[in-house]
Amino acid sequence: MESLPPVHLAVIMDGNGRWAKARGLDRFHGHIQGVESIRSTVELCIENGVRYLTLYAFSTENWGRPDEEVHSLMELLCQCTVNETPQLKKQGVRLRFIGDLDKLDDKVRESIHACHVETGENDKLQLILAVNYGARNEIKEAVKKITEKVINGDLSTENITTDTIADLLYTADIPDPDLIIRTSGESRLSNFLLWQAAYSELYFTDVLWPDFGREEFEKAIENYKKRTRKFGLINNK
Ligand code: IPE
Ligand code: IPE
Ligand code: MG
Repeated sequence: MESLPPVHLAVIMDGNGRWAKARGLDRFHGHIQGVESIRSTVELCIENGVRYLTLYAFSTENWGRPDEEVHSLMELLCQCTVNETPQLKKQGVRLRFIGDLDKLDDKVRESIHACHVETGENDKLQLILAVNYGARNEIKEAVKKITEKVINGDLSTENITTDTIADLLYTADIPDPDLIIRTSGESRLSNFLLWQAAYSELYFTDVLWPDFGREEFEKAIENYKKRTRKFGLINNK
């Protein structure tokens, strides 16, 4: 029986809009409340010995939402990275980002870059925010880079391995997620870590992200610990 916590936990934080709607509030209040869940999940990861926490914050598809929501999500991202930096430093958390950051406004890019630099020495927990992240885009970019190397004569097609691809993803130096949690009752990956999730354990809960706290976190981790991971083998023990 698996008894270690996940080294890398990834979370599809979903249900902020429904949380707000159920209270007659604007969707934005759901996103604000979602930040509280991020704070407590970071704490719980440190407490439980999780080393990497990846949070899906904004997908490549989320640009299709109304401008007002996109704008407020970007504002929130800016504010949070600035406001949370001192606390993250105190906690020993290193903040990193995955996704196509070139498409973000200068202001957003600058604030996330500053937080990334300021927390760069920390090593207790790596907090990885997926912003303008889409797995298909990530894989497409890797294919482009490989094609260029082949055309330039720096790589021969026989030497292309799965590691060649993995090494060109945003997550090159990050282990694959052991556990992926999705909140809000949806059971899909929505373009999140499609390559890296090949052997991840999946956990779905009906709880909406703003309501995700200690009890739900512990339930998910306990459930994970009871699972047998086989990686295609007969017995991995
Ligand atoms: C997840 O909550 C946060 C983001 C996608 C940014 P949603 O905004 O998707 O909330 P629901 O799914 O509409 O309830
Ligand atoms: C996935 O949630 C993206 C994030 C959590 C950032 P969505 O709410 O965008 O996904 P779908 O549209 O329900 O698949
Ligand atoms: Mg959603």
